[in-house]
Amino acid sequence: MIAEHPPNRGLQDLQELRVEAEESLAAVNNREELQAWHNAYLGRRGSVTRLLRRLGELPPAQRPAAGRQANTLKVALEAAYEIQREALARRERESAGEVRSRDRLDVTLPGRPVAQGGLHPITQTLREMKAAFARMGFQVYEGPEVELDRYNFTLLNMPPYHPARELHDTFYTTLPGLLLRTHTSPNQVRLMERLRPPIRIVVPGKVYRYENADPSHDWMFYQMEGLVVGKGITMCDLMGTIRELARQIFGPDRRIRFRCDYFPYVEPGLDTAVSCMLCQGTGCRLCGGTGWLEAIPGGMVHPQVLRSCGIDPEEHTGFAFGAGPDRIAALKHGIDDIRRFYANDLRFLEQF
Ligand code: DAH
Repeated sequence: MIAEHPPNRGLQDLQELRVEAEESLAAVNNREELQAWHNAYLGRRGSVTRLLRRLGELPPAQRPAAGRQANTLKVALEAAYEIQREALARRERESAGEVRSRDRLDVTLPGRPVAQGGLHPITQTLREMKAAFARMGFQVYEGPEVELDRYNFTLLNMPPYHPARELHDTFYTTLPGLLLRTHTSPNQVRLMERLRPPIRIVVPGKVYRYENADPSHDWMFYQMEGLVVGKGITMCDLMGTIRELARQIFGPDRRIRFRCDYFPYVEPGLDTAVSCMLCQGTGCRLCGGTGWLEAIPGGMVHPQVLRSCGIDPEEHTGFAFGAGPDRIAALKHGIDDIRRFYANDLRFLEQF
């Protein structure tokens, strides 16, 4: 048992006091004893507290050193008290039936499944495409999804009231001249304004169209714009680039079909379809029964577009294309409906 108020001591006995306090603290067995110990040493009338109060009685020259020592003692005893308090609490919890987790481990239980994340199939496809283009010496840029009418249409040879605008099913904002980009082509202009030939870039990103959804159309989808401008660039370079992309993404056996197409910002324009690997060309709902899926339109950059970006079409020519990563991913994985990519059904997404 601890005396509630140990007798007063001189400052010389500090070391002795410390030993005594620590020994009696180690002998404490329960909360009540711990409280009594605290009262006896650190409480308002405890011996350490009284000791500190009596520092003033010392000759001034001795006060600082004695003060430091007394304080050190106080701090050390407070820390020891906390440790003992926690140890007692732990002991109480344990004897109340709780066992340390080490002893609770049941090694025969089945393991908890580790939730595993994965890359979205479109992200994977975008990365593969970017890697394929990087190997061909392209750089990757990005542009804004909320776009100026000027870039989305006018500077691409579609002035106001041009009929080709009707093909785009545009989402307009409430601000005049500002819309959700309907394609990544505005970045052709944005980058030709900033860069000088030779230019070899791709620009991946989301585009938006106010459109009825079906297995090969959605109101949001991805595109990857390509643009090459330099001296002596020809249609052969365009076709070779598209072939090489298809070879890297689909392997050597995929068939490719080029046909003429019209886009106001290219002349001539081209449509590239890839043979539908879902139905092996016999026709299915993804390819609309044709056996082909249009996935990479493009063409030779229209001289007027070059000119409006300050590039002389007599000196430089270029090609551009707008690849469709959603359709490419659908073809690659044999998915019959691109809308599945954005339905967020984990049973679907976890397969990739
Ligand atoms: N911007 C077109 C679209 O969204 C695709 C396209 C066609 C892009 C021809 C091009 C191009 O760069 O040259 O349908």
